[in-house]
Amino acid sequence: MTHHPAIGIHDLSLATTEFVLPHATLAAHNGTEVGKYHIGIGQRSMSVPAADEDIVTLAAAAAAPLIATHGSDGIRTVVLATESAIDQAKSAGVYVHSLLGLPSATRVVELKQACYAATAGLQFAIGLVRRDPTHKVLVIASDISRYDLDSPGEATQGAAAVALLVTADPALVRIEDPSGVFTADVMDFWRPNYRDTALVDGQESITAYLQAVEGCWKDYTEQGGRALQDFAAFCYHQPFTKMAYKAHRHLLNYTGHATDEDAARRTLARTTAYNTVIGNSYTASVYLALASLLDSADGEDLSGKAVAFLSYGSGSVAEFFAGTLTPGYRTVLRTAAHTRAVQRRREIDYATYRQLHQRRLPADGGEHLLPEQSTGPFRLAALAGHKRIYTAR
Ligand code: CAA
Repeated sequence: MTHHPAIGIHDLSLATTEFVLPHATLAAHNGTEVGKYHIGIGQRSMSVPAADEDIVTLAAAAAAPLIATHGSDGIRTVVLATESAIDQAKSAGVYVHSLLGLPSATRVVELKQACYAATAGLQFAIGLVRRDPTHKVLVIASDISRYDLDSPGEATQGAAAVALLVTADPALVRIEDPSGVFTADVMDFWRPNYRDTALVDGQESITAYLQAVEGCWKDYTEQGGRALQDFAAFCYHQPFTKMAYKAHRHLLNYTGHATDEDAARRTLARTTAYNTVIGNSYTASVYLALASLLDSADGEDLSGKAVAFLSYGSGSVAEFFAGTLTPGYRTVLRTAAHTRAVQRRREIDYATYRQLHQRRLPADGGEHLLPEQSTGPFRLAALAGHKRIYTAR
């Protein structure tokens, strides 16, 4: 038998936007009873990008602390996963590579499959590290979720990036081999190239998600995966945090387990802290769930415990896999920086949110300086000749 080194997530860092809109403000505008947002979908506020932020600035802000800590030695691959691409041809990762000053001896690529693609990136990264255990891969999930104003999806918008450094002998999470995968051609959520906002069939998308939970769990068990009761925690893709509860309840039912609401709350509450105040961050969402679990203030050391991951991307592709938390993981967390990233956001009023939502970048190829609204480490400073000009602070 060949012996494989443990491979997985060595470090994790998140970033989110300059602005935040509380759901109470949205509810006051559209007359919705705020309980529908706070309890019904489990969302308190949404991250809103400034005019000079995009998936590149978010991705670079998430990844920069990883490079500051570990350097770039050994990073020969950068994978950027996104639903909200800024270019049909050039990978957003190339801009990030440049902003971070990574060496030219690097391969960079962008991956897409709605909210799922970062998980594909993680699995591809593990394959590369297995081939050469000195190889490190930077996997970045970066997304801005945008639905039409005054549509049902509007309350589930959000934006964030999560950067993962994937290595052998990882300090945070060892990813296990069996993976359950599932694909079905459904039109639950999609965004044609000519649209800035997603199209969605809300109820169909929930049904499609639950079907995918069954499908990838079934494959996971057929691949020799763990029993459900082995898991100390479950990190679900969270388009809104209530969805994690729907998915978990569905999985328990499907596998013939009792659905105890208190037990579900204990299991899931530790994974929702970031998503409930950030909103849907598409590819980053399931890794924000992991960040919440790791940073969770409830004090339980999960060293050696198994954690389940359920990654879902509409359309649809899903994957169920497991990781074990590396003993000592609590000494290498970035909890204080993550809390700062969430708390530093400036609250905006409804009119400002609406104006930012309606804003589109000029498409005339002229020179345009963008308003300096953001205060993060990187910004989209200008457009010139159809090119995006980024600067670092
Ligand atoms: N107090 C407490 N709860 C309330 C309430 C109140 N005053 N009013 C309503 N609710 C509850 C409802 O009972 C409902 O709960 P259940 O689902 O448990 O029954 C919940 O609030 C939502 O109410 P509705 O279903 O009436 O809400 P809606 O029709 O306006 O839309 C939505 C909800 C479909 C999620 C919509 O926000 C949407 O389309 N979102 C975008 C799509 C999405 O996120 N889909 C998720 C699966 S797809 C995916 O995961 C990929 C992805 O990221 C997009």
